[in-house]
Amino acid sequence: MQPTILAENLIGRGGYADVFKGQKEFCLVFQLSPLGSLASILHGPNRHILTWNRRYNIALGIARGLLYLHDHCHRRIIHRDIKSDNILLTKNFEPQICDFGLAKWLPPDADQQHVTKFEGTFGYSAPEYLTHGIVDEKTDVYAFGILLLEILTGRKALDYLQQSILIWAKPLIDAHNVKELVDPSLGEDYDIEQTMELLKPEEDIIFEFENDGTPRRVT
Ligand SMILES: Nc1ncnc2c1ncn2[C@@H]1O[C@H](COP(=O)(O)OP(=O)(O)O)[C@@H](O)[C@H]1O
Ligand SMILES: [Mg+2]
Repeated sequence: MQPTILAENLIGRGGYADVFKGQKEFCLVFQLSPLGSLASILHGPNRHILTWNRRYNIALGIARGLLYLHDHCHRRIIHRDIKSDNILLTKNFEPQICDFGLAKWLPPDADQQHVTKFEGTFGYSAPEYLTHGIVDEKTDVYAFGILLLEILTGRKALDYLQQSILIWAKPLIDAHNVKELVDPSLGEDYDIEQTMELLKPEEDIIFEFENDGTPRRVT
């Protein structure tokens, strides 16, 4: 049954959407995003409007959103379908995670959950999710890593041969070859240090967010 979208059913305003309560389920209502999804810009004719600063802020904004879902909600929420199609952009290029159709609440007493049916998007799915159906925060973190590569390179998660962006990017990342890696449509508009920051989780670069949302690098 569809929850009724009436003012009295509004139970909260999250960072992403208004949350309405129905008889059996919740309903998220988003503002219309004038720019549409990140995918539609990144892989469309207007990709040049995604300047380096905007891409960097979009990447941090999505990280902040995931941190909120994983660590700061009443119950841990795993989105399970993080990808550029499911990121809306406000008129100020602020990212909003949308499409919670596959989202799961993790039980408070379990580190992970197992699912028997694959639901999600090939190209963004973590190996342990694909092979064993394991769902936890890392499911979203893996997808976020692929999304980061997509934002930096302008390439799709899977190319026309269904080959992962990771296969293409890994040798360039290992060689610190930022020039070859970044989206050619950026020209010279990119920051090598910021790119390497985003690409090096193995060095445990951790951002924390201040109360006002400002990112601060911790390590
Ligand atoms: N609030 C919105 N403003 C602008 N475009 C939207 C909005 N919500 C959804 N869309 C567009 O519709 C697409 C599909 O919406 P989504 O919520 O992801 O549903 P699903 O993928 O399950 O069909 C998005 O990728 C985006 O392009
Ligand atoms: Mg979607």
